Amino acid sequence: MILEQFRTGGCLSYLVGCEQRCGALLIDPEISLVDRYLASCSRHGLQIHYLYDTHTHADHFSASRALGRRLEVPVVMHRLSPAPYVDIRVDDGETLIVGNLRLQILHTPGHTADSTCVRVEDCLFSGDTLLIGATGRTDLPTGDPVALYHSLFDRLLKLPRETRVFPAHNYRDQESTTIGTELATNPRLQAGDREAFVALMNGLDLKAPDHLTEALRVNCSGGQSVAQLIAEAADQIAFMSIDEVSARALAPEPGITILDVRETGDYRRAHIPGAMHIPRGQLELRVDAVLPDPTRRIVVYCEYGKISTLATAMLRRLGFSRAVALDGGFRNWREASLPIEGEEA
Ligand SMILES: [Fe+2]
Repeated sequence: MILEQFRTGGCLSYLVGCEQRCGALLIDPEISLVDRYLASCSRHGLQIHYLYDTHTHADHFSASRALGRRLEVPVVMHRLSPAPYVDIRVDDGETLIVGNLRLQILHTPGHTADSTCVRVEDCLFSGDTLLIGATGRTDLPTGDPVALYHSLFDRLLKLPRETRVFPAHNYRDQESTTIGTELATNPRLQAGDREAFVALMNGLDLKAPDHLTEALRVNCSGGQSVAQLIAEAADQIAFMSIDEVSARALAPEPGITILDVRETGDYRRAHIPGAMHIPRGQLELRVDAVLPDPTRRIVVYCEYGKISTLATAMLRRLGFSRAVALDGGFRNWREASLPIEGEEA
């Protein structure tokens, strides 16, 4: 069995492949790692057969839908998953066959109602049900500490002690654990009976994960994150460096139109010398009046370089074939102590 672990922040994902028949399952893929997964498949000579999310993630952006579409591969989740893009809904006791591998699905609710684990050979991909020295939290939507107790004590912890456990999260630099190690050392598993475990879980008082609302929106709807939207726009355009723009903008014959898409107050206070202004929210409505020549070379900027990326992609779609975005934002222009115009000048 080929097994590769990927880490982004504290989130872990896994490529599990059959070396004889070259099929693979990708578990809990994260959107920022898509190129790495595909590069890894090429390196190992693997073809992905299934994209598997162990549960509805509240803290990372699943790549399953995007990769599923790109590779024409089905997305697999538990039948209770709210995501409309799931192709194969599975339940406890079912098996996925990938090459010579038999991947057994365990429904282990508690962290979420749709939480599952995947068992193959001596490995358990435990999602957020069992973590290294911890368990998944039960205070997010559909979490249930009683269900988690049963999933842990009646299911996972009854697996052979030498079972290697690969969780969906670990914030320390540790790859895996075993059922035996967790039974002996995991503080959350030492509480005693069910009531004590539930009291422990209910008393954790954890801070909400970053991007909780956005992650649930994206993972439950199959929509896109803002970062994804910006990354896709960036793939459709070209950029111009601050050095290049400043050299051109400050020349006697600029040859470029600089377009500021920030809010009116920001533009009034300070902007790049000679820049025109259309707030991003009015771009499509006012662009023909302000920029009648679609063949004009336009450099678009905003404060951080993100909204300008979206605006430039939109201008390209509208036919402004020479629109590019400033690589960076006005913030970087200021930090470089370049000249400004406006009230603060
Ligand atoms: Fe989770």
